[in-house]
Amino acid sequence: MHTTRRQLCFLVASLLSPSRSNCFKQSLAIFSMSSRSPRGKRKSSSLTSSLTTMKDCAEKTDDSNRETEGQKRSHHTFGMAPMKSSIFRETAIADANSLTDGVKLRSMNDNESTDSVILPFIGYGTYKLGREIARSKTLEAFEQGYRCIDTAFIYGGETIETQVGLAIQDAIEQKILENGRNDLFVITKHWRKYHGYEETNQCLRLSLRRLKLDYIDLWLMHWPGPAWNTMNRRKDLIKEYGPWHYAVHSEKDMPRIRAETWRAMEDAMKSGKVKAIGVCNFTIKHLESLKKTASIWPPAVNQIECHPLFPQKELVEYCRKEGIVVQAYSSLGGQDVGKKFWRTLYPPPPKKRGESKPESVTKLSNTPPVLNLSKEKNRTSAQILLRWALDKNFVVIPKTSSKERMLENAGIFDFSLSTYELDKLESELEHALFEVAKAEKKDVDSMARLCWRNDPLRDLLFD
Ligand SMILES: NC(=O)c1ccc[n+]([C@@H]2O[C@H](COP(=O)([O-])OP(=O)(O)OC[C@H]3O[C@@H](n4cnc5c(N)ncnc54)[C@H](OP(=O)(O)O)[C@@H]3O)[C@@H](O)[C@H]2O)c1
Repeated sequence: MHTTRRQLCFLVASLLSPSRSNCFKQSLAIFSMSSRSPRGKRKSSSLTSSLTTMKDCAEKTDDSNRETEGQKRSHHTFGMAPMKSSIFRETAIADANSLTDGVKLRSMNDNESTDSVILPFIGYGTYKLGREIARSKTLEAFEQGYRCIDTAFIYGGETIETQVGLAIQDAIEQKILENGRNDLFVITKHWRKYHGYEETNQCLRLSLRRLKLDYIDLWLMHWPGPAWNTMNRRKDLIKEYGPWHYAVHSEKDMPRIRAETWRAMEDAMKSGKVKAIGVCNFTIKHLESLKKTASIWPPAVNQIECHPLFPQKELVEYCRKEGIVVQAYSSLGGQDVGKKFWRTLYPPPPKKRGESKPESVTKLSNTPPVLNLSKEKNRTSAQILLRWALDKNFVVIPKTSSKERMLENAGIFDFSLSTYELDKLESELEHALFEVAKAEKKDVDSMARLCWRNDPLRDLLFD
């Protein structure tokens, strides 16, 4: 029965797919850089409403579907698309055309005919969104068609989940989410202060209360290790006693306590309070250690910092082999690194007499390799960085407080990067980094990390 349904779905998807590429190009014209026309009413500017069903699209055009290199590779990992009843649709990245398209996650429903858990390829990030605007900006993201939201227990000093919860209520009341809560994919994260079985349960209770939800779609372990407080650690104390001074548990005890946290997460999934569980910031070592005790394996997702400057190839390959979806964060370069870093990596050329001061590189998106590709592809730098991630088979969660950028970041389904372009981008950035690391006698990987740079506990291995 299962096979027959899958086969039928595959057939329908195959019949409809040749026409979809062109259809989507039309609907996305408003988002691409080549046409910066002012957007129309809310309805037409929403990605989910601009192209509601595959049938809509099939009726509009009959253009053939040109597959690029990147798109071909995408089929490999995420497979073809069975139909489903909720607004979320499992599909290959190559066929994705909406903010409700995504990848199926491992969940309790895997062997049932009920809805699968589909993680959208593009979600909306809320780190450093700012407490005052988090509610209105999250609502704006929903208005612009985003249906996946990434938040965390700790964001905004434990204030953002509450604001996100209020935005969800607003969106339901205003009928932006037509089917209410079901039209939304909510990701939140367990905080590292709550490692241990009971503590983890407590953390979930608080998150659910703050978000005013009955369940979380994807619940992630934010860090493989513990810590007493959140961010404001004193450098002098760390210098004197070492970073473990701030840890709740001892270094030796860590794998056991992490396994307890995971067991609580497994139980939360079994009870239906969360639909899928995963981890963040886990290295291969952490994953291997968790594998030994986990009864639910693999984690559905590993959310990690990943961009062309920090492609984490070995970890990504491990995740691919184990069937763990990689969710890339800080795809645009993140928000934690200062201008000094970029000036070191790309020193501005000396000012020539009579000429204005040359522009400095201030972030990942205006490094020469990204700018060059952006020019070649006639896409913004942000779109290049996000498409790099999709073409590597990662899902993304860019954060922005600008409505225009929300649309820009979502407008990446109608182009792709070839293997050559992906590799070139990575190797050019790697080369620049390598030169500096060599000169400064630093480790390339630790330099490449742009997020959590100010957190002294980031270097704890938590092994
Ligand atoms: N699990 C973890 O440990 C972890 C760690 C970090 C982040 N995350 C998640 O991942 C999300 C994304 O990562 P991130 O917040 O670090 O950074 P990011 O998405 O790489 O970058 C956000 C920055 O880029 C700017 N930006 C956004 N769109 C842009 C565009 N089209 N053009 C130019 N600039 C643009 C934003 O500024 P404006 O707001 O002014 O547009 C903001 O300064 C987070 O929000 C969070 O949900 C998870």
